[in-house]
Amino acid sequence: MSDKPLNRFLDRFDSIAVIGLGYTGLPLALRLAERFSVIGYDSDPVRIQQLQEGYDSNHELELGQFPDLLPVFTSDLLQLTHASVYIIAVPTPVDKNNLPDLRFLKEAVEQIGKFLKNGDCVVVESTVYPGCTEEFCAPLLEKISGLQLDKDFSMGYSPERISPGDAVHHIGAVIKLVAASDPVTLRFLTQLYQQVTMAGVHACVSIRVAEAAKLTENIQRDVNIALLNELSSVYETLGIDPGAVWEAAATKWNFLPFRPGLAGGHCISVDPYYLINAIKEQGGKASLVEESRRINEGMVARIAAQVFQHFQSTIIGNDKKRVLVLGASFKPDVRDFRNSKPVALTKLLMRNNIEVELVDPLVDGQHLEKVSGLRLTSQPTGYYQVMIIAVNHTVFKELEESYFCNCTSDTSLVIDLTGEYKRVISNRKYWTI
Ligand SMILES: NC(=O)c1ccc[n+]([C@@H]2O[C@H](COP(=O)([O-])OP(=O)(O)OC[C@H]3O[C@@H](n4cnc5c(N)ncnc54)[C@H](O)[C@@H]3O)[C@@H](O)[C@H]2O)c1
Repeated sequence: MSDKPLNRFLDRFDSIAVIGLGYTGLPLALRLAERFSVIGYDSDPVRIQQLQEGYDSNHELELGQFPDLLPVFTSDLLQLTHASVYIIAVPTPVDKNNLPDLRFLKEAVEQIGKFLKNGDCVVVESTVYPGCTEEFCAPLLEKISGLQLDKDFSMGYSPERISPGDAVHHIGAVIKLVAASDPVTLRFLTQLYQQVTMAGVHACVSIRVAEAAKLTENIQRDVNIALLNELSSVYETLGIDPGAVWEAAATKWNFLPFRPGLAGGHCISVDPYYLINAIKEQGGKASLVEESRRINEGMVARIAAQVFQHFQSTIIGNDKKRVLVLGASFKPDVRDFRNSKPVALTKLLMRNNIEVELVDPLVDGQHLEKVSGLRLTSQPTGYYQVMIIAVNHTVFKELEESYFCNCTSDTSLVIDLTGEYKRVISNRKYWTI
């Protein structure tokens, strides 16, 4: 391929289409729209209508600041005829058997295939297994468009590193990985993404390397959390306070500041399965990655066991068994509750005839109820025999001991999954991991 697409693109003759405007696609589309003509396409018309009205239901971004620099938000597929670069940012979850669920990706690729022209470039930003872009997406594009990769069109891969709720590591502040199917496209995408981030672009030697790098980033976190989850159980059995161990160990210069806890959400608890399955298909095994997943998935049952044990050892007479869970999202300071472990924990406790009230000032209660059937409580009501601090939202950090004492009794247990309330709670039985 020649330099033509690069020049055409930088001269702003063509548009970039961002497919999927969720947590990752929207910030990217907004950032690109500051420099280029951008079509923001999402298959959800409600999402599009909200964006057209300047409202991001994820509450991550303000859209009203630069109304002249916004993408064209649309759910009309025909708008893709104006694009020559297509960036895919659709979900890549796992199914109930933890196998990659490529439904959304397949649909997005098929949609693009209908509009693909000579000289176009398709970039995948969704998290995928190594080989997915070239072995799953490319053949599908070729089949639908009748065009040929590397002859008629090119492909790239640029994993998204955005971390919702993290104002420091926003899209413009982190290094972007870029890979492409040929050297000209790599130059083109490097230039393109340099416009998106001030931190710079790292060009990977191949698409597979970039795909694997993204998985590695999240697997490393999952394995480290699993290690501390295991150690916290070991130290508890040995009669050692795990929190005091982390505090002591953290004084060493090269101790990594991980904490035990719940690994939920749609990245850390999903991405490892993409690698686990990729190597399984080749007859191999990623033992440590699999074991880490098993340990982290077992945390909900481990915490529930602590609750059951408390009820068994405490006489509660005719009182109902009541638990208060603080935090429903999958991590601090976000509204996102996809694959949230506090939600899974709440459901497990309820299945065991425990009345659970869930408090989260950030999560959209109607949305939660629609998706999970769980209702949020705005304020604690009465008293609870167990209180679980599940998510370390900044708003919870302001809570004083009186808050915890007012909704518990002398015999209540406070389970602190964040490990941060040890010094706040002195008048209640306290358990942490
Ligand atoms: N959210 C994160 O923190 C994060 C971070 C890094 C990487 N990722 C990866 O980015 C990808 C997207 O994740 P997300 O969190 O932005 O998802 P999301 O659910 O927030 O948004 C995805 C959007 O894609 C739309 N969509 C689905 N199918 C479509 C289609 N065929 N055509 C057009 N639009 C379609 C949905 O309506 C939705 O608005 C995933 O692969 C994820 O693993 C996410």
